[in-house]
Amino acid sequence: MSSKKKMLSGIKPTGLLHIGNYFGMMKQSVLLQDEFESTFFIPDYHALTTLHDPLMLKGFVKEVILGYLSVGLDPKKVLLFRQSDVQEHTELAWIFNCIMTVSYLSRGHAYKDAEAKGEEVTVGTFDYPMLMAADILLYDTDVVPVGQDQKQHVEFARDTAEKFNRLFGAAFKLPEARIMEEVATVPGIDGRKMSKSYNNYIPLFASREEIADKVMAIVTDSKGTRPENVYAIHRLLKDASALDPLYEENEGNYKALKEALVEDLDAFIAPMRERRKKLEVEYDIDGLLREGGERAQEIASAKMSDVRAKIGVR
Ligand code: TYM
Repeated sequence: MSSKKKMLSGIKPTGLLHIGNYFGMMKQSVLLQDEFESTFFIPDYHALTTLHDPLMLKGFVKEVILGYLSVGLDPKKVLLFRQSDVQEHTELAWIFNCIMTVSYLSRGHAYKDAEAKGEEVTVGTFDYPMLMAADILLYDTDVVPVGQDQKQHVEFARDTAEKFNRLFGAAFKLPEARIMEEVATVPGIDGRKMSKSYNNYIPLFASREEIADKVMAIVTDSKGTRPENVYAIHRLLKDASALDPLYEENEGNYKALKEALVEDLDAFIAPMRERRKKLEVEYDIDGLLREGGERAQEIASAKMSDVRAKIGVR
């Protein structure tokens, strides 16, 4: 048995990956993959809360797995799998439903936002944190590398573990979110949080033309001396000491600054984009998911035997 601590995280397959996913979650995951026993998965049942198109769902599952591989997660070191290959996730989520309360889950930011916007909220959206708790707790996770927006979800998982352990005896480890402060919330081209749902994102594997289109569309206001939204995205790629002279030299010349950002983004994205192109043709994605699913299921199944015994079902 490995003495390493365990790391687990996931990206919902609901759209193209973007640089917010990369800097908030993927970058630290790649850096930490040797230090931790690592698992990354694709939460396709979570995607079902917003995506009701089977072909698109399958396509985005492939997008996420190719993304994991292209940014440098090494399938020889890291367990990669698809949530729906391991039925224990939904089973455990049900058990958690029966110990956590409606008033507790009503505090969820995602649920409250959807309610505030007057959206029709599905039970799945309300219950989303319980499935996520199952994802995390089934694998004895110590740390969950995420962006700021997922912090509350990891706290929900922790609270759920505590409550289960108190009611039925120790079964689960208490996980912690791991958030990189400087990139906790990566801004989009309109200055709000970069997000698939706001359509303000720069795709992680964008072509040079797409990068240029997105960067030219960055919202600039004429208030200060610096186009803050351009600068904020630029800071993901370069230190202030490298950027500040450039921004001073080109004060007021937003076009030149945007062109510099296109250049830097393209230089950063190009190697990953090339890698993805190659992997898409060469890699046996189905084989990888099949194998990963089997390994994950073994772990989940052992954990569920203990859980079932503790709660008194079959
Ligand atoms: P998702 O798919 O929305 O986002 C995937 C990861 O990317 C991070 N992220 C960001 N970080 C910084 N700035 C941004 N603008 C930005 N946008 C996205 C997210 O914080 C996240 O880490 N609920 C999860 C998926 C999930 C999961 C899990 C994660 C399901 N089960 C178990 C960890 C563990 C989600 O929807 O992430």
